[in-house]
Amino acid sequence: MSTEHPSPAGTRPDRRDHATLTDDTWAVHGGNRADETTGAIRTPIVMANSYRLPADPAALPEGDPDLLIYTRESGANQLGLQDKLARAEHGEAAAVFATGMAALHGAFFTILSPGDHVVVSDVVYMGTFDLFGSLLPQKMGIEVDLVDITDLDAVRAAVRPSTRLIHTEVICNPDPKVADIAALARIAHEHDALLTVDSTFTPPPLMRPLDHGADLVVHSLTKYINGHGDAMGGAVIGGRELVDAIKFRALHHVGGAIAPFNAWLIMRGSLTLPLRLQRHCENAQAVAEFLAADSRVAHVAYPGLMDDPHHAAASGQLSGGYGGVVSFALEGSHADRVRFVNDLRLITSAVSLGHDETLIAYEAYPPARAAGLSCPFRENGLIRLAIGLESAQDLIADLDAALIAVYGPASPSIADRSSA
Ligand SMILES: Cc1ncc(COP(=O)(O)O)c(C=O)c1O
Repeated sequence: MSTEHPSPAGTRPDRRDHATLTDDTWAVHGGNRADETTGAIRTPIVMANSYRLPADPAALPEGDPDLLIYTRESGANQLGLQDKLARAEHGEAAAVFATGMAALHGAFFTILSPGDHVVVSDVVYMGTFDLFGSLLPQKMGIEVDLVDITDLDAVRAAVRPSTRLIHTEVICNPDPKVADIAALARIAHEHDALLTVDSTFTPPPLMRPLDHGADLVVHSLTKYINGHGDAMGGAVIGGRELVDAIKFRALHHVGGAIAPFNAWLIMRGSLTLPLRLQRHCENAQAVAEFLAADSRVAHVAYPGLMDDPHHAAASGQLSGGYGGVVSFALEGSHADRVRFVNDLRLITSAVSLGHDETLIAYEAYPPARAAGLSCPFRENGLIRLAIGLESAQDLIADLDAALIAVYGPASPSIADRSSA
């Protein structure tokens, strides 16, 4: 699936010729089409439910899921976003959906049939956990094994003749274990199964799972790719045949289409993705290092920390940083941790990630959901910081002041005991 798109030596970049654009230039120009009618240099928002049919609709070609007929199936803004995402992820085709969950459901609903077995990471986004934990088994007769996806022997042991799919996130949400995508792809393919990878935490250029052998990559566009916390969307990217099947089965007939306005907003947000990611990663690294050196913090998990157990796996696959999510645990009581979160003045307590502003979410997980989490998070709950684009200095000052309010000043004598 690996598709390199370098600007051929000596070739002048030309925005009308995709093959000559580098990835950074593609981030700015990809998928945009000037409006032929008005000459507007950006694709307008096309808020129409239907497109004009040809004189004889019977002449419409068969087998093309992207025909402009009805907006549940396709639309001008959806098409531009699909083009952009397909090439950004080095895939052949992309399908866009109303949300990340609609995209994940669309992929699973298309690939899986009753009686199929799936191996899933035991740490995944809550919505995915619930899909595999109850909905798909109960409604579709899918059999599921949750495994520690970083334990490749455990993954191999879980695979059965009926295994159709292995599913993981690159950096798992909310406890950031890092999956070895190439190794998982090999295991899946040796058993005629597919590997689907949710790369929401690691959009390009940080990581391109298709280059590592994944069959499909899924994104919640709601997060980094839009980047401004104001529009929801999802995408599935991969080989054309599978992506077309997902469009015909799960998009056209089950619905879940993205609104043209949201597709347009996400397209606009994505223009600055490589620049924003750089800042998210730098800020997250600085905040993780601050927390790891702080005596009041019981545990920090961030794959950018040299002594994080997933540092090597992350370094071998990611390029340009380790993402923007830092998870940590505080000792004391539940009430202490609630007080800490509520004492923050800059950082907002809210779910989601990949926004321009930094968000924090503290959760004490129920036992079934907590089973895959590392021990300090099972015991103390997990505080997830979704680092934004502010100055790292301001973020650290806010965290430090809230820690002082609840736990008192950091103790220099034990300042190096954390992040074990
Ligand atoms: C890793 C991951 N995948 C998928 C989703 C679902 O995306 P959405 O909220 O756009 O449906 C989320 C949401 O937080 C997520 O964190």
